[in-house]
Amino acid sequence: MEENEAKNRNDELIALSRVSAAISGLWDLEAILKVGLNSVLEIMHGVIGGVMLLDEQTKTLSYFVYHGLSGKYAEEMRFKLGEGIAGKVAQNGRAILLEDISLEPSAARPDLIKTEGLKAFLSVPLRAKDKILGVMNVASTMARRFTKDDMYLLGSIGDQLGIAIEQSKLYKRLDDARKRYQMLLRQMITIQEEERKRIARELHDETSQQLTALALNLQALTEMMEMGDVKDTEIKAMLKKTHNIAVQASAEVVRLIRELRPTLLDTLGLPAAIRNLAEINLASKGINVTTEFKGMEQRRISHEAELTLFRVAQETMSNIVRHSEAKKAIIRLECNSNECILCIEDDGKGFNVSEITRIEKDGRGAGLFGVRERVAAVGGEAYIESQPGKGARATAKVPVSQEH
Ligand SMILES: Nc1ncnc2c1ncn2[C@@H]1O[C@H](COP(=O)(O)OP(=O)(O)OP(=O)(O)O)[C@@H](O)[C@H]1O
Ligand SMILES: [Mg+2]
Repeated sequence: MEENEAKNRNDELIALSRVSAAISGLWDLEAILKVGLNSVLEIMHGVIGGVMLLDEQTKTLSYFVYHGLSGKYAEEMRFKLGEGIAGKVAQNGRAILLEDISLEPSAARPDLIKTEGLKAFLSVPLRAKDKILGVMNVASTMARRFTKDDMYLLGSIGDQLGIAIEQSKLYKRLDDARKRYQMLLRQMITIQEEERKRIARELHDETSQQLTALALNLQALTEMMEMGDVKDTEIKAMLKKTHNIAVQASAEVVRLIRELRPTLLDTLGLPAAIRNLAEINLASKGINVTTEFKGMEQRRISHEAELTLFRVAQETMSNIVRHSEAKKAIIRLECNSNECILCIEDDGKGFNVSEITRIEKDGRGAGLFGVRERVAAVGGEAYIESQPGKGARATAKVPVSQEH
């Protein structure tokens, strides 16, 4: 008797280690379940079965992998928690062993069970810590095929699979995050590259031409002076023209520098910088702007948070100018001891926010996406509310860091 028990125990350990060796090093959920199920079926000889996973949202169990069961059976066997045998196992977290499921009144879909010819049935929970992730079912066309030992063994395998499933979920989350990060990085590099191209183009198209004109005019002036017989009035007119070009070039350079580095932000702080931005971008295009600043006296938020809000304001205003056809804009910035909230509202034509779910090939959506990511990077959140015909409101909240 004792010898027998020891042998059983030994077999159980061997079986367990076989399953754990088979699934170790696998990260893909489907592979884990397939390999796990196959080794169970091999260990138990001549039985069939499958793994059902619990959908956390719908609380429904359905087959994810199966072997020896028909496609129709696997497709139609879907249970809510508590429903059928598998539903009970998932709800209570306790294994169920049936000598003959075809005689079991609480089994769901007796028609399907009959068609498959299922008799002995064993269902164990798959769990990680206290969470039930699904169940593993094995069945046989012979009644009384399974013993209590089979149930304990399958239970231990179920616990192992549960942990592997949980790990694969964590791994997937990590992997998704890594992919998202890479995508973002690529996006950032593209945006930077585009920005550089734009600046190069503007320098080339405007400033460089103005400087060339300046040089040519100065040369012409020198030649005029050398000729000696040119009238003062002509020289004066030429000087005036040249001066104008120099002023324009200088203004252009100042504008570019301002765009590149918001110096006002450094010297005057966020409210003045935003007001200035609104004047340059909105008021100059005939849009009536109101600004409201609250709670800015006590503290200056971290430079990072300030710069983030400044960039949000920049992108939002550029959207208002480019897309909204608004007549009015209201800019509010309010800080309390926890966070700063920037809210920019326009009364323009609005848009359907749910349509902008990703970045289109033509770049549409990159602005809003960039805003969201930038704000998230400093631990805040940003969103835009709008409906066609009802204007738009962009909000960005950033936490106020304690050490500034
Ligand atoms: N204030 C607004 N009023 C009306 N439509 C808007 C407004 N802001 C954004 N939109 C709509 O949302 C779309 C996405 O804006 P987003 O800033 O993400 O991209 P974009 O402005 O098209 O391109 P980018 O900002 O990358 O140059 C815009 O193309 C526009 O259709
Ligand atoms: Mg934009």
